[in-house]
Amino acid sequence: MSISAFDALIAADQKIENKDWMPDGYRESLIRQIAQHAHSEIMGMQPEAAWISRAPSLARKAVLIAKVQDEAGHGLYLYAVAETLGARREDLLDALHEGRQKYLSFINYPTLTWADVGALAWLTDGAAVVNQVSLCRTSYGPYGRALVRICREESFHHRQGFDLLHTLSRGTPAQRRSLQEAVDRWWQPALAMFGPPDSRSTHSASSMAWRIKRAGNDELRQRFVDLCVPQAEALGVRLPDPALRWNPERGHHDFTPPDYDELMRVVAGHGPRNRQRLAHRRRAHEEGAWVREAAAVHAAKQAAKQAAGQAGRQAAEWEAGRAAAPDDARAAARETGGPGEGWPLWEVFVRPRRGLGHAHAGSLQAPDAAVALHSARDLYTRREEGVSLWVVPSRSVTSSDPEQKEAYFAPAADKQYRHASSFPPPEGVEGL
Ligand SMILES: [Fe+2]
Ligand SMILES: [Fe+2]
Repeated sequence: MSISAFDALIAADQKIENKDWMPDGYRESLIRQIAQHAHSEIMGMQPEAAWISRAPSLARKAVLIAKVQDEAGHGLYLYAVAETLGARREDLLDALHEGRQKYLSFINYPTLTWADVGALAWLTDGAAVVNQVSLCRTSYGPYGRALVRICREESFHHRQGFDLLHTLSRGTPAQRRSLQEAVDRWWQPALAMFGPPDSRSTHSASSMAWRIKRAGNDELRQRFVDLCVPQAEALGVRLPDPALRWNPERGHHDFTPPDYDELMRVVAGHGPRNRQRLAHRRRAHEEGAWVREAAAVHAAKQAAKQAAGQAGRQAAEWEAGRAAAPDDARAAARETGGPGEGWPLWEVFVRPRRGLGHAHAGSLQAPDAAVALHSARDLYTRREEGVSLWVVPSRSVTSSDPEQKEAYFAPAADKQYRHASSFPPPEGVEGL
């Protein structure tokens, strides 16, 4: 595929898939955006995870655990999408841990009270929904598909946050006060999630031209404000902006834009919790190293055992003169990818219900098939999405070459006589 074919696909609002040719700049922009998105999902677990042990009821605790688990899942969907573009997860995580790649700034603010947990979900997950719903139409197919799944889950995050605040709004004066204070704290960080104004955004123009992004920062921020105003009224809470009012001429609310200098300061690492959040993330990664190593060693052992069994069978066949010389068992074991080499990628297929075919759900990284199957269950069927799972090593998938699309599919286009609709029956003839 050439640059002009790529441009034509983008102009026709068609999706680009991972095997398609794409300009380097497009690939790099996607990897940067998807990596920042993935980092934000896993870093975003921290402000809320701190409240799991302090949630005021068992029901709220269960909801919060489910939400934090979802955010981990979103991170994993997205790292897998970045891997379809040739990025290595290890490199992306290194870039996060070393501060070379960023994550959303709101995560660097503290959740001081239980009301902050609700305000964070109502406002920042609400902002994420506005942003991500628009991104579902992104030009890169695997990213768009992951976002559809993410948006479905984000709407639960958003709603449960509103529900938590609504409960507080009907509570004691002290609870209502803590609700107002939390909204005061989270309004600005939520507005800042849409990034700098388009006029000051470094990547906006090319991302819009490539249709990676489908709406500008200013437009999305406005949409978010317009949605929040009636919801705040329902909560009996005041949004902390004296300039906020309906503008009948524009058909939108006027509001004070967030403080971009503060946004830039926080993104650069000088927010109230930046150091703590990154230190925690690095520690979690280091403490998990032995689990990753043990899983990889186990996978290599299993593969070696399997290969030895296979080699034994091959040897017997060979002696009986029915087969070629046995393979080296270690060669098969090497296929699995040992410790330090990075785990292989797996494609996940889910059968939504009996009678339907397995459909591709996404990918994941795992050391072996057993772990891949467990991860697939945790990642892709948290909400009764299916009754059966397949995991297939990505490298085992042989696909048709997008460059040879014509040779594969075009001949069928001039054989319309293969379709029943090519033979309209005469008037009044039925049953054909
Ligand atoms: Fe998320
Ligand atoms: Fe969320």
